[in-house]
Amino acid sequence: TYIVNDACIACKYTDCVEVCPVDCFYEGENMLVIHPDECIDCGVCEPECPADAIRPDTEPEAEKWVEFNRKYSEMWPVIITKKDPLPDAEKHDGEEGKLEKYFS
Ligand code: SF4
Ligand code: F3S
Repeated sequence: TYIVNDACIACKYTDCVEVCPVDCFYEGENMLVIHPDECIDCGVCEPECPADAIRPDTEPEAEKWVEFNRKYSEMWPVIITKKDPLPDAEKHDGEEGKLEKYFS
């Protein structure tokens, strides 16, 4: 599976949702997540994210993010259409420690 990590937080560009063939992105207030059981591992969303927030689950720390994505994808509504990024998306792009600072 692929996952969305904290680089998405406070940016939420949503370019990713347009390309997913199985519509497995879910939307929270500050970020999106991928449902790990619905993702078919096609990889097409990864290069679409301007914040580089979409990663394969083969990377270090992936397990933590898989569980995070699973948890919130079961609570949040699906998103299938691109919308405007969050207002200060460019300012928050690449910022450190976003999970602690902005995620609620
Ligand atoms: Fe969707 Fe493919 Fe990205 Fe998985 S890897 S979230 S199936 S676009
Ligand atoms: Fe987030 Fe990147 Fe999608 S910032 S909303 S994962 S395009």
